[in-house]
Amino acid sequence: MKVTIDGQEIEVQPGTTILQAARMIGGDIVPPAMCYHSKLEGSGGKCRCCLSEVSKGSEADPRPMPKLMASCVTGCQDGMEVKTKSSPRVQEAQKAVTEFLLINHPLDCPVCDQAGECDLQNLSFEHGKSESRFIEEKRTFEPEDIGPNIQLHMNRCILCYRCVMVADQITDDRVHGVMDRGDHSNISTCVSHAIDNEFSGNMIDVCPVGALTDKTFRFKSRVWFNKPYNAHRDCPTCSGKTTVWMFGDEIQRVTGRKDEYHEIDEFICNGCRFDHKEVSDWVIEGPREFEKDSVINQNNYTKKLDTVVIETEETILKGRAIDRKKISMSEIDFNEKIDGNPLNSTING
Ligand code: SF4
Ligand code: FES
Repeated sequence: MKVTIDGQEIEVQPGTTILQAARMIGGDIVPPAMCYHSKLEGSGGKCRCCLSEVSKGSEADPRPMPKLMASCVTGCQDGMEVKTKSSPRVQEAQKAVTEFLLINHPLDCPVCDQAGECDLQNLSFEHGKSESRFIEEKRTFEPEDIGPNIQLHMNRCILCYRCVMVADQITDDRVHGVMDRGDHSNISTCVSHAIDNEFSGNMIDVCPVGALTDKTFRFKSRVWFNKPYNAHRDCPTCSGKTTVWMFGDEIQRVTGRKDEYHEIDEFICNGCRFDHKEVSDWVIEGPREFEKDSVINQNNYTKKLDTVVIETEETILKGRAIDRKKISMSEIDFNEKIDGNPLNSTING
């Protein structure tokens, strides 16, 4: 069936959501997503960042949908027309959602390990206001210890439920989840037990903000000072395919590999993540490639760049070619003699 998003038509399979269709087209029209994660079943529908305007429901029922729809949980219909980037209503709503998400967020980016690769930081950079209208007291929680490897900062949590789904779907025994309701809702290890199953570290990678961070990397470096490389090792528990973040010769942290939407390609085990920080533990494949804009991918040389075409008059180009020839000294005969010595001997001193 056919669906049109911001004027671009694409053919999709039944069951495809608007967000998935938009990602198939790619580019600016892809709505931001904080809670949807393509590798986690049932994720999405929590954060409302991905709102889109359905201006035509389908070929069979062309009426527009009256409310903005969460594109990660709205299925495409044949003949559906959707607006994302091109809709002022959507832009306005994304600003409002961002403001809402930031209401209780501590805005402690200068001391947060997630800064530089935080989806909320990116979202607020694009859609946020420079000042807050919130004058009430922010919601705060007592610090809670959830084990030796993972640091929970509940004040930063946006309740996207991704970590709960990792615990449900990737690990054998779930010992943490969302407790309480309303603005008391919080992530907790229900029984105050450490999360010690082999894949629990993936909660760190799926957390879109700095609510769950790696204790072994805590306050070691800002992420943009690290150089990320794809690496692998023979691991009996997981695929062993990771990204290692290096500072000089030192591996400061190990994470799963993320795609252009900051979603994990393959979940990795805690052994790879926390216990293998020696360069000799890994086969380094090469620099990690980035697609999505973020602080850490600024000036990354693997980033795709648009080809710049400069329209210039032909005479100017001709002049440039002459200049280039002069500058390159290609016509100078280095065997020519000055005072009886070959020219290149003068140049080489
Ligand atoms: S701790 Fe992170 S991953 Fe878990 S619900 Fe909160 S924001 Fe989402
Ligand atoms: S990504 Fe769609 S509601 Fe969160």
